[in-house]
Parts: sequence; C-alpha cells; structure tokens
Amino acid sequence: MSNIQGKFPNTRLRRNRMKEFSRRLVAENNLSTDDLILPLFVCEGNNVEDPIKSMPGVSRYSIDKLLNKVEEAVRFSIPAIAIFPQIEPSLKNAEGSLAYDEKNLVCRSIKNIKKEFSGIGIICDVALDPFTDHGHDGLVINDIIDNDKTLDILEKQALVQVHAGCDVIAPSDMMDGRVGRIRKVLDSNSFQDTLILSYAAKYASAFYGPFRDAIGSGAKLGKDGKLTYQMDPSNSDEALREVALDINEGADMVMVKPGMPYLDIISKIKSEFKVPTFAYQVSGEYSMIKESINKGWLSEKVIMESLLSFKRAGANGILTYFALEIAKKLKDE
Ligand code: PBG
Repeated sequence: MSNIQGKFPNTRLRRNRMKEFSRRLVAENNLSTDDLILPLFVCEGNNVEDPIKSMPGVSRYSIDKLLNKVEEAVRFSIPAIAIFPQIEPSLKNAEGSLAYDEKNLVCRSIKNIKKEFSGIGIICDVALDPFTDHGHDGLVINDIIDNDKTLDILEKQALVQVHAGCDVIAPSDMMDGRVGRIRKVLDSNSFQDTLILSYAAKYASAFYGPFRDAIGSGAKLGKDGKLTYQMDPSNSDEALREVALDINEGADMVMVKPGMPYLDIISKIKSEFKVPTFAYQVSGEYSMIKESINKGWLSEKVIMESLLSFKRAGANGILTYFALEIAKKLKDE
C-alpha cells in the first residue's frame, strides 16, 4: 500500500466512525428500494393465503390476493416482482405442457397484474419445474435431462409469457443455448425489446429446499437432483464462462443464485464483464435468517447487513423475500 494511506497516530481510521454524520458520509454502499425485486408465489383459487411452512412469513396467494401484495410493492416503490406458480399436481405431466398454455396460472397472473398496475416490472422464470410431474426443469428422456428437446419447449413457454405481458424473461433452467434460442424467438415475434435476465450462474444448491416446498417440485428429483444441469458449488471459472455465453446469446442482465454463499461470484462477474448483475437471496437463506430472528437468536439488523453484502460485492439488485419488509423500513427512515 502506498504511504498516502498514512500510519498511526496520524491516521486513525476510527475518526470517520465516531459520529453518525461522518459514518453516513463515508459509507461506500447504500441499499435503496430501487435495488429490490420481490418474489411472489401464486396458487389457484379465490381468497387464498396459504402460509409456506418452511418460509415463515411467506405465503402463496390466489390471484385476487396476489394483487394486494403487488399493490403494496407498488406503494413502496419496488421496481419489479418475480412470479412463481404452485401448480395443482393433477395438471402436471412429464412434458410440463401447461408451461406453454396461454391460460396457465402464470399468464393469468401477469394479465391481472398488468390490468391494474402497468408500471411495475414483471419477471417470469422460464423453466419447466413447476409444471413437470418429476420436478425437473427440462424433459427427462432415458433418465437424462434432454437439453435440446427442452429448448423447443422453453421457447414456447417464453412466448406465452411475453404475450401475456411479462416484461422480463428469466431463464432459470440452465440448459445450454437457451438464452440464444429465446432471444431469437422473441425477436422474430416482435418482442425485440423484451428483456432477458438470465440465471447465468445458478448452482445446484440445497438452499432451494423451501422454494421446492412452496411450489411442490422437490419430491421426485432423484439422487442426483439437478446436478447434471445446475452448477457445481465448487466452481467459479465456470460461472464466468456461463455469463460470457449468456451475454453473447443476448442476455441483458445476469443473475447469481444463491446469494450469500456466492458473493465471490458476483464480485468476479462484475469486475470481469461490467454487466447488470443480480443476486438471488434464495428461500433457504431467507428462512435461516427469518427463523433465527423469530426465535430471538439474531437481531433483525442481519437482514440489512445481508442485503448490503450484495451491494458491496457489486450487485445491481437483489431478489429477496425481505423486499417488502425492507422497502417499508427504508421509507420510514
Ligand atoms: C426453478 C427455480 C428455483 C428457484 C428459482 N427458480 C428452484 C430450483 O431450481 O429447483 C429457487 C428460488 C429459491 O430457493 O428461493 N428453476
């Protein structure tokens, strides 16, 4: 380090920390409502609010009730929501064909939200797991998740979602080549301005457990789970290759998922590619923190601390189940 960094006793790093005003002035990162994306779970029915056991404080909502949540998000200036459906088991099949039915729960949710709240951004996953009876993100053929046959279906899924009014297509399936295929099909259907937020570095993580409870996709994944398509938690060079490919194929924004265990990946992506990069603080991260707070083991200050860690790592925004809670707090300050 150069000598302008100074040395004790001339340099006392504690001076800047002594008062609140100077701490505020020297803060290198801040969290704002503009950084937040709220994930929401939707289910069939009317007037349903169905608490998710493994995600304390988070529920699935039927569309009518979902609109109340979206209204809150709008009121607190959250820029975007992400929608995840819990599909009735009787409507699932091996191909996940409901994924590309324009009357499916996701499309109906988008249309209803857009009717009332046209300004908030709507982000939708492209992946088959909510719709397949086995819970995988792609087609299973001879016990293998078939990459290229899955692409044909993902294209159709993306198309019904943009026709319904989705603003941001978020491929979370981790098939090779999907961003390029989706970009092409969107462009050739006059959706050249629809954004693609690619789950570029999505790890095969056990932190997704509560999400799989929430949408009912976890029971039949088999011994290898999603290891043949989601990334190995040991790897980081590979995450950069994933991001490079997705940008080349037309992604506008990229995501790292889960969040806190992968801050190094966010930081590397940001410094290497300088592209809009998002972190997903996933269900398991949420539940660990939330339940510890509920039990009185941790102070609720850990929520803000965890979200700031994403900003420090370089994330432009964060998908977090804490989004509403934190947006309310930021408004009060
Ligand atoms: C589906 C998908 C998953 C999550 C978001 N989209 C789970 C999975 O891949 O099994 C996880 C989100 C969370 O845990 O909060 N492809």
